[in-house]
Amino acid sequence: MTRTKITQTLKEDGLPGLIRRVHAGLVFRYHEIYNSRFDKAHAIDTRTSVALETLDFEHRHKSHAIDYEPTPIKLVEALLKPSHVRARSTTFLDLGCGKGRVLLKAAELGFDQLVGVEFASEIADTARQNLEQVFKSSTGVSWTVVSQDAATYSPPRSDLVIFLYNPFTHPVMEGVVNWIEAHIDRGYRVEVIYYNSQCRSLFDDCNRLKAVPFPWLAKLQLRFLSWHAAAKYVSVAGPGDDV
Ligand SMILES: C[S@@+](CC[C@H](N)C(=O)[O-])C[C@H]1O[C@@H](n2cnc3c(N)ncnc32)[C@H](O)[C@@H]1O
Repeated sequence: MTRTKITQTLKEDGLPGLIRRVHAGLVFRYHEIYNSRFDKAHAIDTRTSVALETLDFEHRHKSHAIDYEPTPIKLVEALLKPSHVRARSTTFLDLGCGKGRVLLKAAELGFDQLVGVEFASEIADTARQNLEQVFKSSTGVSWTVVSQDAATYSPPRSDLVIFLYNPFTHPVMEGVVNWIEAHIDRGYRVEVIYYNSQCRSLFDDCNRLKAVPFPWLAKLQLRFLSWHAAAKYVSVAGPGDDV
């Protein structure tokens, strides 16, 4: 920040405004370092955002979709590390997976069954290339990226950890919450990690899910390294579940 800019910010927003700006700048740089390190290490590009209006495809839910922008790698770590459901039979699902960054990080954190759902086929193709590139020599991870609308997706018959980074708005999220409910009623455990939780009320109102807090370290990281709120939910027992 130049001296003139500092003086101007102090004049307009006072000291708290200046502190906020400096903090935002430092956080941005911090994330840039780790995001580019991640892409370089894997020789891929997950950093470049994509505006969906630049892609030539029609979809009834396109107007409810949020553009591709990846979750900062350090926040993926903070959000996923304390995940409750981590059994072998658990599938990690990123709804609106973009270029696959979160799926790749989930594998590094120990998930071995990954599914990405991405309705923009051009972006889904990039995710597939990225995952192929990273997993070409690794045998332990099973993964798939489907080009599909998350609202009408049928999940695999397994426990799920579902990740969402503000991928779409209410009409699509309603469809997602409906199939999550049905999945829990079939007896599967589900955990939802929702970053930038704009449709949070849909999850709060779902009686098959209960909100759980993040551990203190993740809370601290979210507080100081993020501009967005996050929420986490775990399933409560469905009708056929004795537990
Ligand atoms: C904010 S980006 C999140 C990317 C990725 N999850 C991450 O955190 O790095 C949202 C993604 O959701 C996708 N998306 C939007 N609406 C969708 C829908 N109805 N079904 C599947 N994917 C969708 C967009 O194309 C975009 O790639």
